[in-house]
Order: sequence, then structure tokens, then C-alpha cells
Amino acid sequence: MREYNRRKFIQTSTLGVIATSSLSLNCQRNLSSERKGSYMGDFKDKPLENIRAAFIGINRGSTHLKNFANLPGTEIVALCDLYEDIVVRELKKLESYRANFSNVKTYWGDKNQWKVMLKEVRPDVVFISTNWRNHAPMAVQCMKDGAHAFSEVPLGVNLEELWDIVNTSEKTKKHCMMMENVNYGRDELMFLNICRKGLIGELLHAEAAYIHELRWQMFNADRGTGNWRTLHYSESKGNLYPTHGLGPVAQYMNLARHDDNFKHIISLSSPAIGRNNFANENFDSNHKWNKMDFSNGDINSSIIKTNLGRTVLVQWDETSPRPYTRLNLIQGTKGTLAGFPTRVAFENGFEGLTKDHLSWVEGDELKRVYEKYDHPLYKRLNKKTISSGHGGMDGIMMYRIVECLKNGLALDQNVYEGCFWSAITPLSARSIERDGAPQSFPDFTRGDWKKTKTLKIVL
Ligand SMILES: NC(=O)c1ccc[n+]([C@@H]2O[C@H](COP(=O)([O-])OP(=O)(O)OC[C@H]3O[C@@H](n4cnc5c(N)ncnc54)[C@H](O)[C@@H]3O)[C@@H](O)[C@H]2O)c1
Repeated sequence: MREYNRRKFIQTSTLGVIATSSLSLNCQRNLSSERKGSYMGDFKDKPLENIRAAFIGINRGSTHLKNFANLPGTEIVALCDLYEDIVVRELKKLESYRANFSNVKTYWGDKNQWKVMLKEVRPDVVFISTNWRNHAPMAVQCMKDGAHAFSEVPLGVNLEELWDIVNTSEKTKKHCMMMENVNYGRDELMFLNICRKGLIGELLHAEAAYIHELRWQMFNADRGTGNWRTLHYSESKGNLYPTHGLGPVAQYMNLARHDDNFKHIISLSSPAIGRNNFANENFDSNHKWNKMDFSNGDINSSIIKTNLGRTVLVQWDETSPRPYTRLNLIQGTKGTLAGFPTRVAFENGFEGLTKDHLSWVEGDELKRVYEKYDHPLYKRLNKKTISSGHGGMDGIMMYRIVECLKNGLALDQNVYEGCFWSAITPLSARSIERDGAPQSFPDFTRGDWKKTKTLKIVL
């Protein structure tokens, strides 16, 4: 009897899994079936001499506002946030920036004010820096209302949203860039430069992570990042913030551009202990954090397999007590570059500092590596952007966004890259549910990644 029931259960639950997965596959098929617009891989729009920008969410968005507004040929046409005090604070700051803000309109108070703003102001571009679940709906509506969308990471939280972004961008011919600032870090730019020069040979394997202990954010219980982020952690599964680590290594490997692409992913998580303990230790038993179950594993480890068979480890942990790392490791047939701390090893050594790959060039010795291989973009912009946020990467990113828009160039990160990088979250969740079974990446480019140009070394 027990055996019969067990078998029946397995049958029913297997059917359940098949039904769910075929349902979601059908849904994906519908969303991905045919392109109703243009391929956006190397999309270039007409040059914008004066860029009229609106901002939604101006906490992290405040940095984007400052960096944008200090570049020539920029105009601020609208600021929107839920809170009046934040809008007023940012409005005051505009006086010290160089952008034109003579026609700025302000919006706050209601979660749908941004929709009114889009219709009233008709901006050229919108910068979105709100909570994660707002990114995709906001980006999609911005494009529908005629604006290029620039969103904070991630671009969306599920595959349906990501397909919606791709389809809308293709249909409206509007850029939709996920602003992965880490791709503009000094080390990341230098590693890209070293990879493109072929100095570590054929690329085989990368390691990426977002390991950042952020339990303290739970003290933002009523307003601010921790408020929505903590809720998201209790309700979601998988690798929840993959793009800071993955974005740079994906560009070293040219994934989704010409050479190679994301094929499938396997994912496993550890037990979930740290957040529940932290809530218990720091909040009284009636506090909302103690009524939630933080059941997503404290540390997630996912491995991507690419079409060429290369591997990328992507880890995520915002809970455990350990130092910050994005790993930032890229391994080739002739050497390895790694981050946190920065180290490089070449098979034939490096200019008298190392004689082979058995020891790292690191610490003060790295000065010579930077002198030789710093990316030209970093050399060109570092002095202008050094105080722009996150060691200068925020400013370089914004400089490039504005430079590309003004000159009608393809952006450094296309809509498909943002979607592939963000897709780690829902795909890892599915893999975890199926005990680590491989999950195929949808091809957001519908096969056209082979036509997309390699990201060149921008001078
Ligand atoms: N790339 C980076 O280095 C980096 C750094 C920090 C944050 N982030 C990302 O930036 C985003 C924002 O993070 P944050 O720390 O500023 O969060 P936050 O909660 O402090 O700020 C988000 C702001 O968006 C506003 N907002 C939310 N919904 C809105 C709506 N419907 N209409 C108008 N405004 C709305 C909120 O009022 C809030 O002021 C997140 O995606 C986060 O992951 C990225």
C-alpha cells in the first residue's frame, strides 16, 4: 500500500513537474517564437546632440544623476521617486551640476507617478534605479513611450520579463541597457584588454561572484534597500544577484557575441541559516523579519556551460560573515587573472617579476602590469571620473553611455547581454528545484549572437 502510494505520488509529482515545465516552456515559446522587430545586437540610433533624461528612483539613482548631469550636452527633464524628501534633495543638487534643468518636472507620492511622468515629459532616456521587481515593467513602458531605457541590475527577475524586454526593444528600436558598472572597473577593463591581446591564450574557465555580507540591510525595515531586498530574499530562490560578477567575465569570454554563448546552467544552494539567525538575534519575535522564512540557501553555487564547452562558476552570498569578493577569475591555456586580491600569472612569467605561472604577480608588483596593460578607456577617463562612485567605474560607465548616445554608437552592453546575465536567477531557481539538473538558457538573440560584433577595446 505504502509502495503503491509512493509510486502514485512519484507519478503525479513527475506529471506535475512535466506539466509545469511544459507550461513555462510553452509560455517561453510564445514569447520567443518570432521576432516582430529588428535585431538589436549592434543597434545604433541617430545621434542625440542634447540628451533629455528622466530618473526614476533616486537613491542609488542619485549617483547616476550626478554623473550624467556633469557631462556636456545633457538636460534633466524629470525626477521621480516615491518620497518627496528624496526628490527635493536631488532637485537642490541640480544647481551645482552643469546640465540644463530649466524644464525639470518632479513626481512623487504614488507608485504609478512614473507612468504619468513618461507621458507628460517624453524624455529621450530614462534611468531606472528602483527595487528589482520594478526594473522590467518600467523599462518596457519607457521603451513603449519612446525612450531608451537604462536600468540598474538586474534587468528582470523572471524569464517572461526578460523576453518582454527583448521583444519590446526589438519592436520599438530602443536601447535597453542593464547598467553593469563593474564592467568598467579598472581591473575588469585591464583583464578584458589582456584577454583580447591573447596573453592568457584560449579562455577555458571563469569564476564570478557576489559575496557581500549585507545582513545589516535588514535594519532598513520600513524604508530603503533592506526593506524590499529582505522581502525579496524570503520570497525568492536561487542566485539572486549574479550580474556584478558575471558581467565582466562574460565579456572576457565574448558570450552572446560572435564567439560563444550561454548553453545551460546547474545550480545548488547550501542550507539557509544565517538570515533566520540574524533576524532572531536582532529583532523581537513579533518583528516582520521573524515572521518570514528565509529558506533560500545562504550560499549559492551555479555553473554555466557555454556552447564551446567553457565553464563559469557564479556564486552568491549576501549573508555569511566573510570578506567581499566578486572572484573575477579568468583562466586560459597560457595564464590566469584573478581578483580579490588582484593577481596575474602567465605561463612564461612576467618581466623578471615571476619566471613562470607557478607564482602570482600581486601587491605592489602589479604596478608594472597596470602600466603595461591598463585599458585605454581607463587611461582616458580615470582622472575625470575617479570620484564618481565605486572607484570610478560609475563615472566611466556613464561617460560611455552619453558618448555612445551622442555619437549614435552601439552601446557597450546590449539588451541581450543584460538578459542573459539576469537569467541566472530564474534558471538557477529551476535547477535547485530539480536537485541541480541542467537548465537550458533561452536564446534571447534567436541565433543572431553569431552576427553580433565582439566588444572591441574602446580607445
Ligand atoms: N550597480 C551598483 O553598484 C549598485 C549599487 C547600489 C544599488 N544598486 C541597485 O540599484 C537599485 C536601487 O537600489 P537602492 O539601494 O537605491 O534602493 P533604495 O530602495 O534605497 O532606492 C530605490 C528608490 O526607488 C524609489 N522607488 C521605488 N519604487 C518606485 C516607484 N514605483 N516610483 C518611483 N520611485 C520608486 C524608492 O522610493 C527609493 O527611493 C537596485 O536595483 C540595486 O540593486 C546597484
